[in-house]
Amino acid sequence: MELQSEVPEKYIKKDRNGEPLDDHFPVMEIPVIDLGVLWTSSNSRDELEKLRSALGSWGCFQAINHGMTPEFLDKMREVTKEFFELPMEQKQKYSKENNDFQGYSNFLVLSEQQKLGWSENLYLAIKPEDQCKLELWPEKPEVFRSILHEYSIKLQLITEVVFKAMASSLNLGDDHFLDQYGERAKMSAKFNIYPPCPRPDMVLGMNPHADGSAITLILQDKSTEGLQFLKDNQWFRAPVIPEALLINVGDQAVISSNGIFKSLVHRVVTNSKKERMSLVVFYIPELDKEIEPFEELVDESRPKLYKKVKNYPEFYLRHYQLGKRPIEAARIET
Ligand code: OGA
Ligand code: NI
Repeated sequence: MELQSEVPEKYIKKDRNGEPLDDHFPVMEIPVIDLGVLWTSSNSRDELEKLRSALGSWGCFQAINHGMTPEFLDKMREVTKEFFELPMEQKQKYSKENNDFQGYSNFLVLSEQQKLGWSENLYLAIKPEDQCKLELWPEKPEVFRSILHEYSIKLQLITEVVFKAMASSLNLGDDHFLDQYGERAKMSAKFNIYPPCPRPDMVLGMNPHADGSAITLILQDKSTEGLQFLKDNQWFRAPVIPEALLINVGDQAVISSNGIFKSLVHRVVTNSKKERMSLVVFYIPELDKEIEPFEELVDESRPKLYKKVKNYPEFYLRHYQLGKRPIEAARIET
């Protein structure tokens, strides 16, 4: 009973009761990949092999040498924390409207039955430019807009390198992913803060899910862990490397790669002592592009595993709300 007075009922996840606390989980063994080396063709083969193997097992890797200095990443972390430290009425100036995904919110509700995540979020489109709602970009801290603009430009370059490398690692022409996803593919930034929580044993920062993006790029807090991935029914902690971006596969790249790349379910756990920030950027293909397995990856030994889909975010939401993994619904039944 006492619990309920500390944490509102709507956050309590009953099935977490009694789960061992989180330091107990093993750390994922994911490679660190040097994006600089991927550019220089001479010795990139080993790096590409590492990439393919990582995306085919863990569905993620740590990217270094991505063109952003550690100081710049720290600045990005700092402005994120500063925004969430503003008084509530200032943050609410940027509140999400009912029918929009952009803006500030202090919970993410996907369905009534679902428990809430212990977090505050700010969701902003950052590409293409005409999709950006600048009025929702915070004016405080003062550098917020300019630094987010710079981050967007850097991430655009990084996503191009990564998609080209993903294609090469599958022995496909460089532009396979980029062409399928379209020039007006979208990038959305989600700033998260996970405040300290009195009952980390019963409350999650973010519920288990896999991403509906093609890929996702995560800037993690330097000193507080919290992200965990599920592999073979076991939770693993995502390691934090301060100067790296963690890049993970979303469902749409699973479809394009005909299941060679994997999108793992992940979640964020809470912590009773420290807050945690993250900045998550989703790369989302144009909604009217047909996403389907590349024909080069389909043959007799590897039949087509996924249907052709359009507007995956809508498909995703529909199935997620029914409590299903959307990527399973996209699978061709055999
Ligand atoms: C997400 C996500 C992880 C994090 O927003 O999809 O998985 O560390 N976030 O905030
Ligand atoms: Ni995610």
